[in-house]
Amino acid sequence: MYIKQLEFTNYRNLQDGCLHPSESINVICGSNAQGKTNLIECIWLFTGGRSFRGAKEKELIAFGKEFSRIKLAFFSEGRDQTLELLIEKGRRKAVLNGVPRSYLSEIVGKFGAVVFSPDHLTLVKSGPEERRAFIDGAICQIQPMYASLLSRYKKILNERNTLLKSIPYHPQLSETLPVWNESLAACGAKITRERAVYIQALSVSAVRFYDGISKGKEKLTVAYKMNCKADTGSDESEIYAKTLERLNSKQQEDISCGYTTSGVHRDDLIIRINDRDARNFGSQGQQRSAVLSLKLAEAAMIEQNKGEAPVVLLDDVLSELDTSRQQYLLTKLSGMQVFITCCEKTIPTDHCIMVEEGSISCQT
Ligand SMILES: Nc1ncnc2c1ncn2[C@@H]1O[C@H](COP(=O)(O)OP(=O)(O)OP(=O)(O)O)[C@@H](O)[C@H]1O
Ligand SMILES: [Mg+2]
Repeated sequence: MYIKQLEFTNYRNLQDGCLHPSESINVICGSNAQGKTNLIECIWLFTGGRSFRGAKEKELIAFGKEFSRIKLAFFSEGRDQTLELLIEKGRRKAVLNGVPRSYLSEIVGKFGAVVFSPDHLTLVKSGPEERRAFIDGAICQIQPMYASLLSRYKKILNERNTLLKSIPYHPQLSETLPVWNESLAACGAKITRERAVYIQALSVSAVRFYDGISKGKEKLTVAYKMNCKADTGSDESEIYAKTLERLNSKQQEDISCGYTTSGVHRDDLIIRINDRDARNFGSQGQQRSAVLSLKLAEAAMIEQNKGEAPVVLLDDVLSELDTSRQQYLLTKLSGMQVFITCCEKTIPTDHCIMVEEGSISCQT
């Protein structure tokens, strides 16, 4: 998979124009605050995901403008394809290969990309929600139907929580709880199983990448932690049974709290370096390398599952890596289309994209 052309109108500070990147490594070069991350973010939006900076739609539109339009021509599944996004205040509309799509979820999995930016360090540094979002986003890219499983779970969870809040005022409503417990456990078991299988495969690559980045000096371990306390290798029915048992046993607690205290929405990803929790004991460099390894592993998983490598977007990754680590990284990325930002042109490339006050020019 690779981008052939990218067009943007009214996108953040980028001057309206068009870009024809190289099929291999594209170095996006420019001083601070010129628009490098804006360009990376713009490409990422075509995956159907939200801005990795957590930006709202209106923040993506150039100051003083009413809308933004971005268009991508890319090669995937053996043919040329196009994807267009119209961004307006509060919403985004997509057109895939000339056909308007009602929901953004319909474009997920069409254009595959993996992104790493300093914002992604939250994957190690923040709470479990960020890690679950990482796993869910990654699975969605290779299995778009997984997104509907997630929204079904969210809907059941919200309805159960509403019920829990009403029970103190209408105790007879508790009779309906067992049905909700079963639905939540059934849907949750499918999600947990998908996540556990995905992480098991991802961790193999991630551990290998970390070993390469740290030159074999440190060891990364990644494991999925199920809130239902089932073993990693458990099948869906075992996970269902454990989840249901836990929901039933915590029912009184849930009624007192007014929300569901157990379930797949409480699962976590455990990231350890040299057998210590990376969040509490990892150095900045170790945390960065761990996230980078997870992202590279995510790219490898997409390639394995879809038969083609995703586009790799790396923002501000080079500044903290020494020359040999930079070299390791670039070797691992050969064969993929890569966009990598830097302030000074330090890596050899056949394609450099210069960004200056939002104006983009190519040097080949
Ligand atoms: N909606 C918008 N309209 C116009 N300009 C914007 C908008 N959103 C952000 N900007 C501007 O875009 C500029 C460039 O931001 P960007 O984060 O891409 O810089 P950068 O080149 O990645 O810099 P750094 O090297 O510091 O990371 C910022 O100065 C910001 O003010
Ligand atoms: Mg930046």
